Amino acid sequence: MLSTKRLTPILLAVFLLLATLFFLNTPEAISSLPAYGEKAGSSAVTAADSQQQTDATKSQTSTGVKPDTSSSKPAIAISYDKTTPPTTGCEPIVHDLQQRIISTYQTQLKGIRYANVFGYLETENKGDAAIWSAQQILMSMMGINFLEACRFTDKDCDIAKFRSQLEAHAPHSAILIAGGGNFNDFYWEDQPSRIKMVSMFPNIPIRSFPQSIHMTHPDRINLTKTSFGSHPDLQLAARDQRSYNWLSDTFGQKAVDVEANKVRHILTPDIAFMWGSRPDFRLNTKKTHQVLILARDDWEVSAGNSSSIPMGEGVLDLGGEVGNVTYNKVDWKFTNTPGINESPREEGKNQRAWAKAIQGFEMLGSADFVITDRLHGHIMSTIIGTPHVLMDSKLGKNIDFHDTWTKDCAATRVATDIEEAKNFARMFFEKRLREEKKGGDGGNVA
Ligand SMILES: *[C@@H]1O[C@H](CO)[C@@H](O)[C@H](O)[C@H]1NC(C)=O
Ligand SMILES: *[C@@H]1O[C@H](CO)[C@@H](O)[C@H](O)[C@H]1NC(C)=O
Ligand SMILES: *[C@@H]1O[C@H](CO)[C@@H](O)[C@H](O)[C@H]1NC(C)=O
Repeated sequence: MLSTKRLTPILLAVFLLLATLFFLNTPEAISSLPAYGEKAGSSAVTAADSQQQTDATKSQTSTGVKPDTSSSKPAIAISYDKTTPPTTGCEPIVHDLQQRIISTYQTQLKGIRYANVFGYLETENKGDAAIWSAQQILMSMMGINFLEACRFTDKDCDIAKFRSQLEAHAPHSAILIAGGGNFNDFYWEDQPSRIKMVSMFPNIPIRSFPQSIHMTHPDRINLTKTSFGSHPDLQLAARDQRSYNWLSDTFGQKAVDVEANKVRHILTPDIAFMWGSRPDFRLNTKKTHQVLILARDDWEVSAGNSSSIPMGEGVLDLGGEVGNVTYNKVDWKFTNTPGINESPREEGKNQRAWAKAIQGFEMLGSADFVITDRLHGHIMSTIIGTPHVLMDSKLGKNIDFHDTWTKDCAATRVATDIEEAKNFARMFFEKRLREEKKGGDGGNVA
């Protein structure tokens, strides 16, 4: 039998453990993260910093992030510093952004245990795959069973099954609108489909994952307002401040032709941050090139594009002491994931999305330095901690996102064109050369 003397410390330890678990599970602990618009208090710093630091080469001691809503910008954000190259990793920021998504959707998805996802888009775009798989991570974490997925109501979709699954699990079922960049009226393909879907399911709660929003046609904005504004339980989400402002102006306090604040709207980081911090994709991937250029090759390409550099493998002269470096230039939308499109084919949309997302992370992890004008080139490089340069795309969505969430990440530098991007690459490799020299012979530990 245990004596009271020996039992006391054990009981004390058990009590402390239970108290800790209780604290971690209380809403108070969750809501101690500053909500959108609040000042970032010391609690956010603690939440971000207390996360386990797995990245040995972590060079930053950053604090919690908050969306940038301030009009007075005190100091220049690190990613706009043109005098220094990006460094490795910014794990505290990644942890903080992930935590924000979790605490936001804990509220938005309360009571929901079954969900259909609307807006499913299966392509080779590794960013879309990372979004899809991250949505699955969040749903699993929240205890939500994923049922059906459709992109349109009237094609490539068994809408009868879509409806019957939701009805079978009511009132614990919901439609979750997929996150991404197609809440716009340029293509007019996904948005009209969403409008139709919202009108078809007035009795089902609808929640949206974070999106970039770009609406410019008054008639199309009207259609959106009419449909969304008539749904009794709809929540939309923006992944950057500019998109959030549009939602606020359209559905908030000063809404016109729509009941004010009936359509709930939130600001939250891109869902891909549900992958959390993954330095393993950088540390464990064999480096095949010094620079990876992940470039978009479509209508969204911007003036600061890299068209002067041919696609594929080659040598890039960075000048200075660095000179030539090897590069690989790809657009991952047109890069097939091995084993997906030939046999044996991955079965099921989830399996294919996981495989493509991992392929995307490994692609970014295959070089020492990344240059990209794709939003998820930036987001996924940040997740794995690879030093990188971000250039904008035509609609401004890259910089909109970056300025809202990731401008304090030292692994990023913003460039307006490819020459500036190359300049950052030169600084990065020059610094590495200097460090290797300082380390003497055998200093190359990369
Ligand atoms: C949008 O709706 C408002 C009010 O219903 C109307 O006055 C306006 O003409 C509409 N605009 C377009 C382009 O349809
Ligand atoms: C891409 O950059 C080149 C200069 O390198 C420029 O001439 C061209 O107009 C740019 N393309 C777009 C779509 O802005
Ligand atoms: C750099 O690469 C180019 C070919 O792209 C070659 O002509 C040049 O000699 C190389 N410079 C050095 C210093 O190796």
